Amino acid sequence: MPDQQETLLIVDDEDIIRRLLRLKLSNEGYQCEEADGAEQTMNTLATSPIALVILDIKMPGKSGIELLPEIKSGFPDTAVIMATAVTDVNVAIQCLKQGADDYICKPFNLDEVSLAVQRALEKRRLQLEVREYQQFLEERVEEQTGEIRKLFLGAIEALVSALEAKDRYTGGHSRRVTQIALALGKELGLSPQDMEDLRWASLLHDIGKIAVDQTIQNKPARLTPEEYEHIMTHAHIGAEIVRPVVNGKISEMIEHHHDHHDGSGLHQVIAGNDIPLGARIIAVADAFDAMISDRPYRSAMSVKEAIDEIKRSAGAQFDPLVVTAFLKTAEIAATRAQIL
Ligand SMILES: [Fe+2]
Repeated sequence: MPDQQETLLIVDDEDIIRRLLRLKLSNEGYQCEEADGAEQTMNTLATSPIALVILDIKMPGKSGIELLPEIKSGFPDTAVIMATAVTDVNVAIQCLKQGADDYICKPFNLDEVSLAVQRALEKRRLQLEVREYQQFLEERVEEQTGEIRKLFLGAIEALVSALEAKDRYTGGHSRRVTQIALALGKELGLSPQDMEDLRWASLLHDIGKIAVDQTIQNKPARLTPEEYEHIMTHAHIGAEIVRPVVNGKISEMIEHHHDHHDGSGLHQVIAGNDIPLGARIIAVADAFDAMISDRPYRSAMSVKEAIDEIKRSAGAQFDPLVVTAFLKTAEIAATRAQIL
């Protein structure tokens, strides 16, 4: 028994042929619509859900051959059976190559018409089922990927917290930098994907400190140039550590998070807008949080002093565009930094 939802459209310029087909197919339980030419066909397809079109090849005006590609591109889920005179079989085969599902020959053997309709509808049902299943699988994969990413991010967060917990000066630093950086990213109008990358890069920006000598990092005095150089290797080491598990944009942000906008940073190879925007954002967020935190060799600056220092460094250490965004969000950033 045909599916009640499946409506057929019979297209023929001859009224008697449409009536003949309609009679046969209605008797078999199909809902039938009719069209006498190209225009009516396209209008009916646009307004009703049609499962299958029986399309006459020879019609005045636009022929079935011309109409077929329009139907297939506008309504790819609609099956099409071409109706042709016996002498046009070659043309009908040509139509199969262009996406028609079958052809029937005039004069019609009505039982064959009925069989062709059944076959084409069955094929269409299977195609729709396969596509639905594919969509279902794609959604599941997307869901699972999201879950895995969430778990991984959670594990990384825990690792970063554990690393920072060893050091009373940097506890919670990466989490605060992430919050400030995301506020700046929002202010700068970053896309959701760029925001996601920025979140990862901020959280992981100092992961390379795992390889840094703790006695140098916690030295209660100013660092010698050699010691400073050693500490600064953490940017490159961090990028190398995360490269196998994150995308290239994230590792680049980590690699360049200590670059100075004017190119004056240590062993710097790029400057200005060549530095990834995310790295320029993290640079400001990182410096701000570091300035308002105690360090082994100095006590914390006030929030106001830190903001002034960042303002002074616009165009030198920091990208002026990011500093402008920072000043706009400074109040929020400062509040967040204070309550954490
Ligand atoms: Fe750093």
